Amino acid sequence: MTIFKFDYDGREETDEDRKARRKYLCKSKAESSEKNRKRAIVTGITGQDGSYLAELLLDKGYDVVGLKRRTSTENHERIEGIIENPRFSLEEVEIADTGSVYSAVERHQPDEVYNLAAQSHVKTSFDQPHYTIETNTVGVVNFLEAIRRFKPDAKFYQASTSEMFGKNYDTKFCTDDKKNPQEKFQDENTAFEPQSPYAAAKLASHHMVRIYRDGYGLHASCGILFNHESERRGEKFVTRKITKWIAGFKSWAEAQGLDTESRHFEFDKDYIHSRRSSYPKLRLGNIEAFRDWGHAEDYVNAMWLMLQQEKPDDYVIATGETYSVHDFMVHAFEYIDIPKEEITNFFMIDPEFYRPAEVEFLKGEPTKAETILGWERNVSFEQLVHRMLESDINAEKEKVQKELYTS
Ligand code: NAP
Ligand code: GDD
Repeated sequence: MTIFKFDYDGREETDEDRKARRKYLCKSKAESSEKNRKRAIVTGITGQDGSYLAELLLDKGYDVVGLKRRTSTENHERIEGIIENPRFSLEEVEIADTGSVYSAVERHQPDEVYNLAAQSHVKTSFDQPHYTIETNTVGVVNFLEAIRRFKPDAKFYQASTSEMFGKNYDTKFCTDDKKNPQEKFQDENTAFEPQSPYAAAKLASHHMVRIYRDGYGLHASCGILFNHESERRGEKFVTRKITKWIAGFKSWAEAQGLDTESRHFEFDKDYIHSRRSSYPKLRLGNIEAFRDWGHAEDYVNAMWLMLQQEKPDDYVIATGETYSVHDFMVHAFEYIDIPKEEITNFFMIDPEFYRPAEVEFLKGEPTKAETILGWERNVSFEQLVHRMLESDINAEKEKVQKELYTS
């Protein structure tokens, strides 16, 4: 214990002395726990995964530096809950800009870096291939080099993707399904065959991470994450596009005192008509594609687990179940009492949403992550669909309330 002057000058300890001792002890305790706190950099902080991961790390007692790119208007919706947290700070960094990445790593000396920033929309990558490579490949190399130069013991997580498998899958013999004995799946040993600039850019980064891990001994891991969605999913991804449309349609019907039953409406190619007005149909592309969909909250936990391992490695994170886009719609429409047989009334196929090349089938095999990381998912497919719908329907209700209140 610290010796104060009053500890050895022989006089009685006063209230003032006791106060000074308490103050000193509190301050040094705070300083030492601050020193022991882990510091993480999270890129893509304003995105779906960045926001969930930051919440998880703050809950675990980390200091979190969130990196966002410069935008002309603020886009902090997903991080509203943490922005005032004293252990959270926000900084502008363009990840394709080498200098700004080097400076962030050198200044913050992070224990862990989670690189989630990306041009993450597959269809957009066909329209903007150069920009996609700048962000999804050059950005990753910038971080690997920054860590190698300025903080070589920092642990690095790279957001790899099931899109890298592209057309490819393996098969295994499935004894309990007589009709479909060959079960298709992808795991860590499945060969990659990317089908988009997005996937090719991510695959280049995936290899760069391995090269820096093997060549320089960095603790760098890749999570090969299959699709994961949530109430915070971007509105251009198919699941959120569907749940948002359903919430909007329900609200439009209710504003006219109608429920969602087909008998209230007439349908043409593009619109749903009631007596009073019309609502545009949901427009989709390829609804026969299969995806392995989980909830983002479960998936960010896997990212953290990977960086807590002694050895870096790559892991598939998936549910092991697959559903088509059509299946997703069936579950979602059922939630507002529109039966499977009637959903064709409500959507139309629009070639605009087809991609030049498609990934038709994804179904991950997460056994390695379950065994080594002890990872498990908690949110089922049905719960995912319902949570997204509930959130969008509530948001529509709030919008209506606000409009009523302000009109
Ligand atoms: P998201 O919601 O689209 O978030 C992407 C984030 O990256 C956003 O914060 C975005 O900023 C930021 N960003 C984009 N370009 C940037 C740049 N040049 N410099 C700095 N920041 C930039 O994506 P997500 O679903 O959270 O996915 C997170 C990561 O996991 C991505 O790398 C994605 O490719 C990968 N991934 C996602 C899934 C999935 O199903 N969600 C599956 C496998 C892998 P703005 O907010 O300003 O746009
Ligand atoms: N976005 C979108 N919009 N997709 C549609 C639509 C539509 O109107 N209609 C059909 N789809 C089909 C797409 O062709 C694709 O087969 C499937 O729905 C899923 O599309 P997205 O939700 O855009 O996701 P993704 O699978 O292409 O990519 C997502 O998952 C990857 C992991 O596999 C993204 O999050 C990527 O960043 C991620 O790496």
